[in-house]
Amino acid sequence: MCGIAGIVALEDISARLVQSIRNLEYRGYDSCGIAMLNGSGKIKISKNIGSVEEVCEKENFGRLKGSVGIAHTRWATHGGVTKSNAHPHMSCDNGFSIAHNGIISNHEKLRTRLKNAGHRFRSTTDTEVIVHLVEDWHRKVKSVEKAFVAAMRELDGTYAVILVTGHEPDRIYCARNESPLLIGLGDYVNYIGSDLNAFIDHTKNAVFMEDKEYAIVTHDSCILKRISDGETMSRQVQELMWDSEMAQKGGFPHYMLKEIYEQPQVVHNALDIDPELVEGFARMALEKKTLHITGVGTTFYVSQIGQYYFSRYAGVTPMVISSDEFRFLAQVDKDTAIIAVSQSGETYDTLNALRYGKSHHATTGAIVNVMGSSMARMVDQMILQGSGPEICVISTKAALSQMIILARIAMAAGVMNGRITAKQARGYEAQLRELPAAIENVLNEKSGFIHTIAQQQSHIKHWLFLGRGRYYPVARESALKMKEVSYVHAEGMPSGFLKHGTIALIDENLNSVVFAPPEEEKELYKLTLSSAEEIRARDGYVLGLTFKQKKKEKLPFTEQIVLPKTPPFTAPFLQMVVAQLLSYFTATTLKRNIDRPRSLAKSVTVA
Ligand code: F6R
Repeated sequence: MCGIAGIVALEDISARLVQSIRNLEYRGYDSCGIAMLNGSGKIKISKNIGSVEEVCEKENFGRLKGSVGIAHTRWATHGGVTKSNAHPHMSCDNGFSIAHNGIISNHEKLRTRLKNAGHRFRSTTDTEVIVHLVEDWHRKVKSVEKAFVAAMRELDGTYAVILVTGHEPDRIYCARNESPLLIGLGDYVNYIGSDLNAFIDHTKNAVFMEDKEYAIVTHDSCILKRISDGETMSRQVQELMWDSEMAQKGGFPHYMLKEIYEQPQVVHNALDIDPELVEGFARMALEKKTLHITGVGTTFYVSQIGQYYFSRYAGVTPMVISSDEFRFLAQVDKDTAIIAVSQSGETYDTLNALRYGKSHHATTGAIVNVMGSSMARMVDQMILQGSGPEICVISTKAALSQMIILARIAMAAGVMNGRITAKQARGYEAQLRELPAAIENVLNEKSGFIHTIAQQQSHIKHWLFLGRGRYYPVARESALKMKEVSYVHAEGMPSGFLKHGTIALIDENLNSVVFAPPEEEKELYKLTLSSAEEIRARDGYVLGLTFKQKKKEKLPFTEQIVLPKTPPFTAPFLQMVVAQLLSYFTATTLKRNIDRPRSLAKSVTVA
């Protein structure tokens, strides 16, 4: 949601601090700000609405010199997008400044109490109560650490909090509960960030904070303690696997396009994941009476495609519930396995589903992209997908990688329970190994045509994405891509569902995309084409995503994008890449904010 950064050093950090929130901007981008301690122990704040680039220019962040400072990039939850609601926030006496990610659920009660005690509020955020609370406690206990901890103990809800104070100008205090926070260890300089992008340019050594912990960070020390009783916690330093180059645009106009183009490599990486890890997941899936796969948004659709692969290749149909609904629907006990899918590993709803599962004694696994993320650390088994940093707010390469990993787990399960032979599995794996080259071919050969279609159809305000079987979740995921990046209404549904109501919408204002399987998936192929015919019979526009046929036959499409001959096992993945490009080019034609679409945030860490 929001991005938090802090640096404690001996020399000026202003440029580095601005860069930190630039790197975190994909977490939130409606406003941002910096609080810097200068040599005399005074805190100077600069903040405003707009992107980091805009605010940096408006406010001239560079003039704030200092060696200890905090910064924040916001995605509004409580309080509108205004300058006064931008973080950091200041205490009444300007002695403390705080930035926060999360939601303080008892903020109204605390605000009333603090107002009655004479505190003056300048914003309508839940965050501001924290800084007044620390100030209030400090008046009573006269110790920053004691005041900080007392304040944290009073907070209900989720938080990653970071604080600087003129009382102790050589350090930063920070704390976390259910919102990510980690500390980067440098050479006489230490960093704090809501994710590793905050400091990956400078150090790869990090300490991951756990829930209900706080830390006191100076330029050469980092002490971790438990909030409840002040007990010091020891933690291993971990080496981060990403580097800063991986998070650059590398000549592409947008991260989204770069990440789409990285997919051949990402598929290789997913195929190189240790087979033992994959088998571990397969075993877990088969050993338990019930298997759930869960995620939300894109990862819900990823889970759904996993469901189809499990059903077809392992003869097991897992329950797939969107993680925001998990607690209200799932039946979980010790005979349940839950596989969570998440790029960030921090999504509140998916974390919550896992917590719910764990509290009901389920065995848990997670497929995540971000090392050291909350999900990665809380589950019994974990697969790190190795897709590299996904900076565009919209998920593309991470989703494809997760689909491949789930297909691999399904295959491994199929071999274990005898649904498919080891030889067949090797055959499917070989087909997966051909996918990177097929994706490259599509990117090289079809981009121009897809771009033209996107431009020609960019006046269309409504799209239907239709597929059957394994192509159905891909259709839904593709509709989500269209919505979020181009702000054009799109719905994904099973093509067989169309005639049960939605067909009433077909007219010249609504376009359809039909995901047609390769012709050897005979039944699926015929049924999918019949839906296209139903639309054409009503004069609707149909864009067919098809594969090269043995013999040329007239297909019921207005236009079609013909992909090279592809085995059914990998065909839906290749079509997904086409749909990603269609959304991307529609959005560029409509001049949308590609990497940071309105109202979205990369990692949704609130309920
Ligand atoms: C869509 C998108 C979101 C995320 C969802 C889950 O492009 O990015 O729908 O997929 O918020 O996020 P993760 O995967 O980080 O748990």
